[in-house]
Amino acid sequence: MKIAIASDHAAFELKSYLVKYLEKRGHTVFDLGPESGAYSVDYPDFSEKVCGSVTNGEADFGVLLCGTGIGMSIAANKHRGIRAALCFFPEMAALARRHNHANVLVLGGRLIGSELAGWIVDAFLSSPEEGGRHKKRVDKLEIRVDENRVKDG
Ligand code: RB5
Repeated sequence: MKIAIASDHAAFELKSYLVKYLEKRGHTVFDLGPESGAYSVDYPDFSEKVCGSVTNGEADFGVLLCGTGIGMSIAANKHRGIRAALCFFPEMAALARRHNHANVLVLGGRLIGSELAGWIVDAFLSSPEEGGRHKKRVDKLEIRVDENRVKDG
């Protein structure tokens, strides 16, 4: 699979670990930065890179990391066509794929260790979308985004 990944400074180390982890499993990884954890960066800038890569079809899935995962989740879910899920357990990641058809996995680098992060990534990538009643709900997400944008002006 083709995976786009990025973090902010708070999760740089976990991002570096996951790049190698994913490559070892045979995935093509687009590491969209940052190149160092030595300086502060703004998570919306890196969320945008990964979400763009997923929505333009370059990547099959995205992985985003920040300290808690919260900032990256908020940023990613503002993009049309992105369903980003912040997951702390493999079961959450599997259900995010099966029920929510998530296309971006978000992790909190200051809250989970690398071994657990690997298990969460594995669960995410190995779980299929279930479709059916879930697709109907997922489709409503995009319709609601458009409707609310019109209302908000
Ligand atoms: C950076 O200090 C931290 O605020 C950021 O990584 C993230 O946790 C925001 O949601």
